[in-house]
Amino acid sequence: MAVTYDESRVTVVDHPMVQHKLAILRDKNTTTKQFRELVSELALFEGYEATRDFPLEDAPVSTPLEDTVCKRIAGRKVAVLPILRAGLGMVDGILQLIPAAHVGHIGMYRDEVTHEPHEYYCKVPAGIAERTCLIVDPMLATGGSATAAITYLREQGAKDIRLLVLVAAPEGLAAVLEHDPGVRIYTCAIDRCLNENAYILPGLGDAGDRIFGTK
Ligand code: PRP
Ligand code: URA
Repeated sequence: MAVTYDESRVTVVDHPMVQHKLAILRDKNTTTKQFRELVSELALFEGYEATRDFPLEDAPVSTPLEDTVCKRIAGRKVAVLPILRAGLGMVDGILQLIPAAHVGHIGMYRDEVTHEPHEYYCKVPAGIAERTCLIVDPMLATGGSATAAITYLREQGAKDIRLLVLVAAPEGLAAVLEHDPGVRIYTCAIDRCLNENAYILPGLGDAGDRIFGTK
């Protein structure tokens, strides 16, 4: 049976450059160095989409020729929250876009047999309730890790939560959107399904191992 979810809360970043880079990322022959660089670049592209609704305010600027009024972001505070480990690979890309963002960590690993998430270390920036929270993790498979991360952030008082992944399975999208009525999800691709080990097909394999070269 087809998996259904609220498509209005999912943004697929389908820019040609994103799709080109994602194809290289998926390739099993891509090296650890290339993989790490691509994850960071894709996070930067995704960050543009996930911040598209940030409000602007007038900002007076004196150019070399005259005084004018430009636009700047109206005091938005941002927290970047990687789900460890693989989410760490997306942090630098987001920080290139939002250098003043604060960074939290959500330590979560997926049990290889049950696929259930286990929390091992969590720390969030002060004032999390006033910040736009960008959870970053390359993979959204069953949705267990992301759901647990969102639950934790809500308990800490987070109000504006956006989940940025590079590859999502329909099962994971459905699980997260059903669990949390407020979250929005950004992804570069929605893949076909999960295999019997809850890996995404066609996917890109184990993102953490490919970023850190651990296999
Ligand atoms: C991977 C991935 C996500 C999670 C996705 O992490 O980075 O966090 O699995 O699967 P789910 O949607 O079914 O929860 P993993 O637990 O393998 O840890 P790692 O980042 O340390 O490799
Ligand atoms: N975690 C990964 O790294 N890849 C998958 O396909 C699923 C979970």
